[in-house]
Amino acid sequence: MEMENKYSLNGIYKKAIVTGGAGFVGSNLVASLLEDGLEVISIDDYSAGKERNLEDVKERFGDRLQAVNCDITDKESLSQYFGDVDVVFHQACSKMTICLKDPLRDLEVNAAGTFNLLELARDTGVKKFVHVSTGSVYGIAQYFPTDEKHPVNPTSYYGVSKLAGEKYVRAFAHLYDMNTSILRYYHVYGPKQDSGDYGGVIGIFCKQAIKNEDLTIFGDGTQIRSFTYVKDVVNINKLVAKKGGQGEAYNCASGLKVSINDIATKITALAGATSEIRYADWKPGDIKDFEVSHQKITDLGFEFNYLDFDKGLEQTFNWYNKVFG
Ligand SMILES: NC(=O)c1ccc[n+]([C@@H]2O[C@H](COP(=O)([O-])OP(=O)(O)OC[C@H]3O[C@@H](n4cnc5c(N)ncnc54)[C@H](O)[C@@H]3O)[C@@H](O)[C@H]2O)c1
Repeated sequence: MEMENKYSLNGIYKKAIVTGGAGFVGSNLVASLLEDGLEVISIDDYSAGKERNLEDVKERFGDRLQAVNCDITDKESLSQYFGDVDVVFHQACSKMTICLKDPLRDLEVNAAGTFNLLELARDTGVKKFVHVSTGSVYGIAQYFPTDEKHPVNPTSYYGVSKLAGEKYVRAFAHLYDMNTSILRYYHVYGPKQDSGDYGGVIGIFCKQAIKNEDLTIFGDGTQIRSFTYVKDVVNINKLVAKKGGQGEAYNCASGLKVSINDIATKITALAGATSEIRYADWKPGDIKDFEVSHQKITDLGFEFNYLDFDKGLEQTFNWYNKVFG
C-alpha cells in the first residue's frame, strides 16, 4: 500500500485522459487513477480493447469514469473530450496489423493519432502529456544494456510508426514548451492482456495450459524476454506524470530475463496441466536476447515492486484462471 501511495496522483491532477483505456495497460492504468481519486476519460476505438476490461472499475467508480468509443485519428470527435483535462496518458496504438495487413493504418494511428492528441493537449492547456512508445524503436541492439541514448533505427513498420509518434512528442516539447515525456515499454505482462493471436506470450500460454491444450514455442525456446509486471508499468506512468523530464524518454523494463522455455514450464506447472510443449520454426525477426537499462527511471525515484517473476506470474495466472478456468 505504501508503494502505491508513493506514486499517487491524488491532489496533483484532477482529470485524466487515458487513450487505449480499454486495452491491456490502459485499463490497468484507468483503474489505478480512479483509485487515486481522479476523474478519468478512457478513449478507445475498441479495435483491440474490450468493454469487459473496464467492467469492474465501472462498478466501483462509475461516476468518475467516462468510457468513450472514439478513434484518435478523428480529431473532430476527439476534441469534445478536451477542455479541462490536466494530464494525458497516451497508450492507444495500432499493433493488430503490425507489418502484416495494413502498415499504413499503423502509421495513421501511431503518428497522426498522436499528432491530433498533441495539438488538442497544447490548445487546451494540458499540464502533462505522457506518451507510450516501445523498445522496438531501437531496432537491433548495438550494445547491452541498451539505454535511452542508443540510436533509434527500428526494423519493423510498427517500430517506425511508433518512432514517428515519439518524434512529434519531442517536437511539441521543443516548439511549444509542452511538458511531455516518453515511455518505452518492453514485454509487459499481467491481468487483462489479450490472450488471442496478437496477445502476449504469457496470456497465450496461460489460456492454453488452463484448457490443457499443447503449447507452441517458435524457435528453441532459449530466447530471452525482459518481462515487466503491469502494476510496475502503471506506477512508472504515474511517477513520470509527476516528475518526468520534459521531452525525455525512459525505458520501462524490470531487467528480469526469462526464457520462453521457463515460462512454458512454469505456466503448465501452475495449471497442473499435462499439456505438451511443441517447437515450431523461429518467427522471422525474433530477437533472441535483451538487456535493457532502467537506470534512468530508477534515478527518477522508481522502485520495481515485482522483481520476483514468480509473484507476478502467479497473479497473472490466477486472473486468467478466473476468466478461462
Ligand atoms: N504490452 C506490451 O508488451 C507493449 C510493449 C511495447 C510497447 N507497448 C505499447 O504500450 C501501449 C499499450 O499497449 P497494450 O499492450 O495495452 O495494447 P492493447 O492493444 O491492449 O491496447 C491498445 C489499445 O488502443 C486501442 N486503439 C487502437 N487504435 C485506436 C484508435 N485509432 N483510436 C483509439 N483507440 C485505439 C485498442 O482498441 C486497444 O484497446 C501501446 O502504445 C503499445 O505500443 C506495449
